[in-house]
Amino acid sequence: MKTPETLQPLIDDGVIDAVVRPLKSGKEAAVYVVRAGDEVRCAKVYKDMAQRSFKQRVQYQEGRKVRGSREARAIGKATRYGRKQQEAEWKNTEVDALYQLRAAGVRVPEPYGYFHGVLVMELVTDADGHSAPRLGEVELTEAQARAFHRVLVRDVVRMLCSGLIHGDLSEYNVLVGPDGPVVIDFPQVVSAAGNNAARTMLLRDVNNLTASLGRWAPDLLDTWFGEEMWALFEAGALQPDTELSGEFTPDERDVDLDSVRDAINDARELALIRQQGREAQDED
Ligand SMILES: Nc1ncnc2c1ncn2[C@@H]1O[C@H](COP(=O)(O)OP(=O)(O)OP(=O)(O)O)[C@@H](O)[C@H]1O
Ligand SMILES: [Mg+2]
Repeated sequence: MKTPETLQPLIDDGVIDAVVRPLKSGKEAAVYVVRAGDEVRCAKVYKDMAQRSFKQRVQYQEGRKVRGSREARAIGKATRYGRKQQEAEWKNTEVDALYQLRAAGVRVPEPYGYFHGVLVMELVTDADGHSAPRLGEVELTEAQARAFHRVLVRDVVRMLCSGLIHGDLSEYNVLVGPDGPVVIDFPQVVSAAGNNAARTMLLRDVNNLTASLGRWAPDLLDTWFGEEMWALFEAGALQPDTELSGEFTPDERDVDLDSVRDAINDARELALIRQQGREAQDED
């Protein structure tokens, strides 16, 4: 195919040899199958930040470390410089997260680097070598759904132990490879410690996975893995290999109902925005 303009610099630099085909153009990025020597890989090109909602990011930025204080102030103020900085920050976040999560033993695509604003990574394939389907596109047996849930909950625990929450985990952002689920799409990853919305996002991530897999294994719908892992995490007692039961008794003393209601409304609103984004994209 004709090389897209955004990928030409990677060919010029010898990072990749050819662009094989477009894989998917999502709301935030276009993903291509590329060739580097004998290896088939994929390249994720981020769409212009201006096309996306700027304000929506602010929640995610909270708690994320920014290098210099000038940069931090610029991001906070949403100046033009700030916007450019934030865009760079946003784009790098995914690459950083992939390296960090690989090291933490989470099954994510292997990153090969970030070049000219493009992430080059492992192409996750199915058993036949075709690009892998998403979790929402496959039929599972009850036993498979349980096994996938176990693996994904363990991956979420490992992420949390390394200080990160995915923030947009759902059946759209999990691929099914021959060895099981692979988590993708990390630009919005959030810091587990410094973000007020961290708990809400973690619970939403885990609940999304549970709701999807609960279609095949309804028993999963009675589990409370998100609540259980967050309580252990807050108490400093969560380890990457902690065995969770899925049972949880909420502490009903001192519940601040207003903040619970706010958190639920925020989560609903964000889910709605994302859903609309996906629908708009499906219509394209
Ligand atoms: N490493 C990979 N291996 C195989 N397929 C991939 C890989 N990364 C992304 N894809 C495919 O490209 C799609 C879009 O990638 P990603 O989710 O990272 O970007 P996005 O812009 O957030 O898309 P969306 O809006 O659909 O979530 C994925 O749903 C998946 O089908
Ligand atoms: Mg995605």
